[in-house]
Amino acid sequence: MKDPGHGGNSSFRFGADYYPEHWPRERWATDAKMMAELGFNTVRLAEFAWSMMEPAEGKFEFSWLDDALETLSKHGIKAVLGTPTAAPPPWLVKAHPDILQVDAQGRRKPEGTRKNCCAVNPNYIEHTKRIVEAMVLHYKDNPSVIGWQIDNEFDVNLCYCENSIRAFRSWLKEKYGSVERLNSACGLVFWGQEYGSWDEVFPPRPPFDMQNPALCLEWHRFSSDAWINYQRLQVEIIRRHAPHHMVTHNFMGLYKELDYFKLARDLDFVSFDYYPRWSSKVDYAASAMAHDLMRSLKMKPYWIMELQSGAVKTRLAPIPRPGEIRLWTVQSVARGADGILYFRWRSCRFGAEEYWHGILDHDGTPRRRFFEVKKVSGELFRIAPFFENTFFDANTGILLVYDNLWAWDLEVGYGGENYYGMAAWEPVLDVYRALYKRNIPVDFVNPLSDGLNKYRALFAPSLMLLNDRLEDSLRSYVSRGGVLIATPRTGAKDWNNNIVDKPLPGRLSDLFGVTVEEYTGLPEGEGCEAVFLGKKAFFKARNWMEKLAVEDAEVIAEYGSGMYAGKPVATMKSLGKGTAIYLGTFASAEFYDELVNWLLGRSIVEEVLPNVQGVEATRRKGNGKEILFFLNHGDKDVEINLGGRIFRDLLSGERLSGLVRIERLGFKAATPS
Ligand code: GLA
Repeated sequence: MKDPGHGGNSSFRFGADYYPEHWPRERWATDAKMMAELGFNTVRLAEFAWSMMEPAEGKFEFSWLDDALETLSKHGIKAVLGTPTAAPPPWLVKAHPDILQVDAQGRRKPEGTRKNCCAVNPNYIEHTKRIVEAMVLHYKDNPSVIGWQIDNEFDVNLCYCENSIRAFRSWLKEKYGSVERLNSACGLVFWGQEYGSWDEVFPPRPPFDMQNPALCLEWHRFSSDAWINYQRLQVEIIRRHAPHHMVTHNFMGLYKELDYFKLARDLDFVSFDYYPRWSSKVDYAASAMAHDLMRSLKMKPYWIMELQSGAVKTRLAPIPRPGEIRLWTVQSVARGADGILYFRWRSCRFGAEEYWHGILDHDGTPRRRFFEVKKVSGELFRIAPFFENTFFDANTGILLVYDNLWAWDLEVGYGGENYYGMAAWEPVLDVYRALYKRNIPVDFVNPLSDGLNKYRALFAPSLMLLNDRLEDSLRSYVSRGGVLIATPRTGAKDWNNNIVDKPLPGRLSDLFGVTVEEYTGLPEGEGCEAVFLGKKAFFKARNWMEKLAVEDAEVIAEYGSGMYAGKPVATMKSLGKGTAIYLGTFASAEFYDELVNWLLGRSIVEEVLPNVQGVEATRRKGNGKEILFFLNHGDKDVEINLGGRIFRDLLSGERLSGLVRIERLGFKAATPS
């Protein structure tokens, strides 16, 4: 096997987030040399360095960054530049204190930190445009710069400043045209809150359980749009001056307050900040789900812009165990990443993140994390020719609508808890865990995208908000032969977040052939057993139970005990080649396991590798190549069974078939032979 060598030649981007401004210049050459030893070809720079690049208004100072780029380029290392807009310089805050966000209690966010600005503030926007334009003009022809990361980890942080309130009113006006229409769409007649004019409108403040849910959802939509627009104005400047540069943003995986599908639309690709170990327990299913979501946002390879390489800054945070950084690195590639940068090159001696550790400790001495990165670097660049220009391919999908997650969170009971006692991701995770366990490749699918028919099975976990387009899209998916699986509260609300005036599951009752006759929060201690698809399978109902009136469907599971004993809890309706399955409770894992077995048995979904506890198996394909990854996240060596299939281990060159041992926290990358 030809070794393509480290770094330079590969399209695979590998490196770290580097803050040269935190270290004496004399150190830079040493850093660059050490990075070259790790095979690095890429760093991210300048992300929070606004005050260094513009120390006073209009006085730009890029020479330090030019020098850093020059030092790195001597080792073939290129850079993604971060626009520094997440960290306003003190002179800007002093000149325009109004750029700081205002919280729901009317308090301004503190100065002296980052991510404290309001996305619709005209002063912030104007200064953002200036610094971004100055940077792009300065760097567009610098061969060391390959692209841009916009800002840093956008989050919504609902802002109640005057500009936000004004912008919210304009946003509503644009959408509804008149206050009468707004009143009626949101049901503001309740508690007599109808508006007589636009200047009476204020964004809802917590506690949200005392506010109008429809207006709350609009406020959330507006706030998400505000950051998407703020990102767009930066993207446009970069594209205008440097169309040859790629543009990305670093997303936060399962962060859900921003509509990530929309945020991704304006970018060339998505980047993901991946920090799996926050405590002694890593939730590998949730971690894999975050990767799958990041990949799905654009259905394209993504980057890890920040991969955990040391202990994070939480109480008693554990350092990654030996082998974990290597495994997370390979896992990222295995799930579809084409670039990996570690956060951060070296742990910083000062500032709010003094205990957020990097590859190097504060003293800059290479230790085990450095050597672990070196090891995996060598391995990755050897297998890179086999995964370059391949992609993670799935024929099972989970439908995801961000508005629905927000609406779910707004279903608050008295006391602030979600009405169903469940976090918004839980219905999704229930499904995902069952698929992950069986190594079934999954995409997250925006139901309004064109590509639904590519999926043999689509899960619609508690898709509560529906509108005509969504409804049509789901109907046509089933009529073309797809298998659609829906869980409680599907179709319970319209797009405005008002409850529908139809029997549930609302507009889709006829598709599933059922109506919900009654529902209840689960009485204390109540569970159920069910006869599932003719086989005795037990699962528990969780939190919520619906009693289904079956009109035109087969009952596939019944409540076995409790107030609905003997009544249907899950149904299946065949429509031509398509199937619509409805589940009327948040079932425990056994239900999903059985359902997945059923889908596997009919080859509706496919597994990359039969389930072995703790082993994650994925496949990337394309351009005549196929590469499989088997990752052992567990503490013990395991054996997987490849059956009759024959593979070649891409690192050792060995032939693999039958039982194959994978060491603890180890992996195999293999290609069919
Ligand atoms: C985030 C940010 C980084 C840094 C790390 C560690 O992911 O993007 O700037 O703050 O977390 O806190």
